Amino acid sequence: MLAGKRILLVIGGGIAAYKSLDLIRRLRERGASVRVAMTNAAKQFVTPLSVASLSGDKVYDELFSLTDEAEMGHIELSRDADLVVVAPATANLLARMAQGLADDLASTLLLATDKRTLVAPAMNLRMWLHPATRRNVEQLQRDGILFVGPSDGAMACGEFGPGRMSEPLEIVAAVETALAGETLLPLPKGAMTSGSLSGRRVIVTSGPTHEPIDPVRYIANRSSGRQGHAIAAAAAEAGADVVLISGPVEIADPKGLTTVHVETAEQMLAAAEKALPADIFIAAAAVADWRVAEARSEKIKKSGPTPTVLSMIENPDILATISMRKAGRPGLVVGFAAETEKVIGHAQEKLARKGCDLIVANDVSPEKGVMGGTSNTVHLVTPRGVESWPEMSKSDVGRKLIERLATLLERQS
Ligand code: CTP
Repeated sequence: MLAGKRILLVIGGGIAAYKSLDLIRRLRERGASVRVAMTNAAKQFVTPLSVASLSGDKVYDELFSLTDEAEMGHIELSRDADLVVVAPATANLLARMAQGLADDLASTLLLATDKRTLVAPAMNLRMWLHPATRRNVEQLQRDGILFVGPSDGAMACGEFGPGRMSEPLEIVAAVETALAGETLLPLPKGAMTSGSLSGRRVIVTSGPTHEPIDPVRYIANRSSGRQGHAIAAAAAEAGADVVLISGPVEIADPKGLTTVHVETAEQMLAAAEKALPADIFIAAAAVADWRVAEARSEKIKKSGPTPTVLSMIENPDILATISMRKAGRPGLVVGFAAETEKVIGHAQEKLARKGCDLIVANDVSPEKGVMGGTSNTVHLVTPRGVESWPEMSKSDVGRKLIERLATLLERQS
């Protein structure tokens, strides 16, 4: 997908610049060519020689270099690319972009380009959360600049929080999305007012269901509830009023929200309907599709007449029921598709069949270790297209998904 694409990478002056070296390598490995412009500050962090060796091209850094202008003018340089990527995008560079300054080669290229620009911010969390940076980010988003990250994490300065540049593979995924013409890139955390979902109500189903056979036996599945619980926790962190409807799991109830414990699919549906109305409904539970037609009230004895066949009937589809509601349908209905083959194809089919707005699809083949594991690789499938996220922790999937849903909800209102 990146083969033959031309990327103009602007490296800003931050400690995360070392990751840009890997980014160049990752982009080139996928067949893209990378031309690099560095700010003066960037040269304090990585040398133009390392950058030139990895990009296989000269590094552009002077606005008034007559040799460069003779070979390729800065206007041409800014346009002779399919996409402009800024990584790391420092607070200073974002501010200059937001103001339309053109006081060095990097900012001039960013102002002169007629191509889409994707930025990967990286800075201290106080700088990221500062009202000035937030204003600049909001302005840049209005101007159509795309963002990837930043993510939460330990910072070089010893603090912890949002501001860390996305990993090179996350940036590569965002580059692919941007080149595909998709606009749905994750909204950076600090760009939203804290509590981006405050005043909103979110319902999440999570975990497996247990469908009784008799008082001691049941039909279940391998879902741990980790992904659904992480989403519910992220929604609560974002300020939403959250009801988590959980099947039987071995993990703790997340803090700051209401957890309703259920066992069967029928109980889960009843609890979901009771929890309505809501702005967002997320069906992350691995609901049993079938239940035993007549669960016995007495334990089935080995010595007694043993049923050789368990007759089964279909469970209600909770996601489809909520999604197809005529009155009181939540503004956004999100489903999950756990597949072992043709992941995207099946998810697209499910999106249409269940009438939801977005499907989070993942490959649950045993070798991927998703069921019961702590990380996940997901694809967001909407009627507009597919966006694939790199492997990340289930908590990060939860946060990113909630950020995305908050943005979509905002656009609706
Ligand atoms: N789901 C639900 N109620 C059900 C079955 C599924 O709410 N009775 C929801 C799940 O929470 C998930 C989505 O539907 O969000 C996809 O579930 P899945 O079991 O993968 O899809 P099915 O429709 O059962 O299709 P299949 O089993 O053929 O893959």
